[in-house]
Amino acid sequence: MKKLNLLVIMAILTFSNGISQDIILPEPDREGGIPVMLALNLRHSSREFSPEKLPLQVMSDLLWAACGTTRGSYRTAPSARNFQEISAYVVTEEAVYLYHEKDHYLERLVDGDYREFTGTQPFVKDAPLTIVLVADHSRMGNTTGAARTAYAWADASYISQNIYLYCASADLNTGVRALVDREVLAEKMQLGEGYEIVFAQCVGYPVK
Ligand SMILES: Cc1cc2nc3c(=O)[nH]c(=O)nc-3n(C[C@H](O)[C@H](O)[C@H](O)COP(=O)(O)O)c2cc1C
Repeated sequence: MKKLNLLVIMAILTFSNGISQDIILPEPDREGGIPVMLALNLRHSSREFSPEKLPLQVMSDLLWAACGTTRGSYRTAPSARNFQEISAYVVTEEAVYLYHEKDHYLERLVDGDYREFTGTQPFVKDAPLTIVLVADHSRMGNTTGAARTAYAWADASYISQNIYLYCASADLNTGVRALVDREVLAEKMQLGEGYEIVFAQCVGYPVK
């Protein structure tokens, strides 16, 4: 009994120290935003970001728009053969997180600020967050060769465009990047074998 009490106390202390530090996102706003034609007209790439952090509700809406769950087990973005092999990782000043779209939360994976490694251009360290789109090849069944890469890059592109349209609607700056040192970033993010970084995409407020 004493042992059990000790375990409970340790769990409480761990939690209150914030060691777990997963981020539970609020419910996303699935009905808001500007008309889609206006968002298309406003969409653009930015290379300047204010360091101001995004409120939790904005992060929630952004990630749901990117690749959140719809119609039960589908997503806001299409995917080849519905593999859903692309995941959104979020790199912030604090840590690297993995977005779990089914339960709509961010799992804290690696402590530390790795934003500077999310691209080869100097502005990448300024944005409060970068979404890194990563393909998990173990989810792509028996697809082989060029089709594997084509599917992963196409599927990531739809998610990227969702991010662009959400940002256009929410007055946020964003820009997708292929210019990424994938080997270095994968090491910093502690990605295992079979994971392929496709794009990185900064999101942040415009500089005032
Ligand atoms: C596949 C892809 C890769 C890109 N990679 C980069 C990049 O590494 N760095 C960058 O600054 N912009 C990158 N861009 C953004 C393009 O330069 C940008 O979309 C283009 O100049 C058109 O501008 P717009 O998006 O404002 O219409 C990329 C765009 C795409 C579609």
